[in-house]
Amino acid sequence: MASRPKIDFKPFAAPGTGTVALIAGEDLALGEHARAVAESAGLERAADTAGFTGATGSLTHFPPAESGFGSVVCVAAASKSEAIGDAHDATMALGGRILAIAGEPKGSLTVLAETADGPMDAESCAALAAGMLLRAYRFDAYQAAKDDDGKAKGKGKSKRKAQLAIAIQCADPTAARKAFKAASGVADGVMLARDLVNEPANVLGPVEFAKRAAKLEALGVEIEVLGIKEMTKLGMRALLGVGQGSERDSRLVVMRWRGTKARGVKPVAFVGKGVVFDTGGISIKPSASMEDMKGDMAGAACVTGLMHALAARKAKVDAIGVIGLVENMPDGRAQRPGDIVKAMSGTTIEIINTDAEGRLVLADALHYTIDRFKPQFVVNLATLTGAIMIALGNQYAGMFCNDDDLSGKLSQAGFDTGERVWRMPLGQAYDKQIESKFADIKNTGGRLAGSITAAQFLKRFVGDTPWAHLDIAGTAMSSPKTDISQGWASGFGVRLLDRMVADHYER
Ligand code: BES
Ligand code: MN
Ligand code: ZN
Repeated sequence: MASRPKIDFKPFAAPGTGTVALIAGEDLALGEHARAVAESAGLERAADTAGFTGATGSLTHFPPAESGFGSVVCVAAASKSEAIGDAHDATMALGGRILAIAGEPKGSLTVLAETADGPMDAESCAALAAGMLLRAYRFDAYQAAKDDDGKAKGKGKSKRKAQLAIAIQCADPTAARKAFKAASGVADGVMLARDLVNEPANVLGPVEFAKRAAKLEALGVEIEVLGIKEMTKLGMRALLGVGQGSERDSRLVVMRWRGTKARGVKPVAFVGKGVVFDTGGISIKPSASMEDMKGDMAGAACVTGLMHALAARKAKVDAIGVIGLVENMPDGRAQRPGDIVKAMSGTTIEIINTDAEGRLVLADALHYTIDRFKPQFVVNLATLTGAIMIALGNQYAGMFCNDDDLSGKLSQAGFDTGERVWRMPLGQAYDKQIESKFADIKNTGGRLAGSITAAQFLKRFVGDTPWAHLDIAGTAMSSPKTDISQGWASGFGVRLLDRMVADHYER
């Protein structure tokens, strides 16, 4: 979408005329190369007068000194104890902060990848750069370009200002460049997820979404797209019922990345809710903030972004991604409260509220995935309930899991990446709330524990397979701004699941 900074890695050398960023520790402690720059730029004297202490999180901006530099920016690294997550994610955040403090300068930015402890390793250099990419992300395809003074610069398609060139000076540019190949692949996956969530529903319907997912073929991902006919044959009437009030046909996309030759290992699987727009259907939603429901496909966007990430960095894993793509509209053909549908698994469902549609889509997508691929586990992501925002706000995704080992791995990856998940309870006692008078189950469980009864509903379709459901209604969109996420769509879940795969499932 937006113009992406061009990043390269160079050996330490005298920086040119653009903006130079140095990484400071406590008391303005700099590494040896940064110290040389600081000295010749008169930075140390300026720092005295400006009272810069280099305390955690503080930062300062120094105008050009008498030397030949442009401006010199000094950004304090968060101290280890304050950093949330492990070193790489703190480093990603630092990259984002450097870009912000430098003011996303035009022209060039040179970053000295060095702390008082010495040069950063290749992985850290890559993380720093990936953080800058994510920070620079904009979704501005539909806005006229602005001049530097903020005035619109003609109409039509937006043309952004000149591409920013970033040079990261480091100890081993070749190693850093190699590490960045993987890190930027993951960042691209995050940005793909953001693009999909930000895209309005008039542009991104189920068919268009499927086409975007099919582009992953270029990375070696195998793609199958199931249409109405195929899904009808399979008996996916829970999913199809949701889409039947829309002018636009539903789709199910199956993505597979085979990144390992290891035999006898079951694949890992990810399933996403892809409601391209959720009006609520006949149980129509109130108008306030309904526009946000263009993001009700964030689960599917995350799965697509994750498949991109895994393929781009050639992860040594056999991974399946399945996304159910529908539009939930009120119409003469739309499904009604009181309707009873039979899911692919054979379970019958009484529709109480057509706005509880995500679980219907997932019921069939989950059953299909488990039935066909017999994965070692399945993680589904969905903007499933408003209630999860009441419980956890925008800081944690809700995690519902039938397997302690899987939930432990997800919690740890969440902590490490800053894409945090909090485990919520499951329990048979809640099943009473979804008992139906007429069918096997009903699709809503009343006012109490709305996120839990939704999870309890999904549980009916996963059998004994280790499974986790992540309710990302509060974290995938209009979530808080961070050092590496500034827009409406965060791309939540891509880094989390990529990390979990990298830490535990590659071979
Ligand atoms: N997509 C919504 C949940 C949602 C709401 C996500 C706000 C993001 C922001 C979901 O389909 C829905 O409408 N859920 C209902 C369920 C209810 C009818 C049982 C809800 O949460 O109100
Ligand atoms: Mn809904
Ligand atoms: Zn929904």
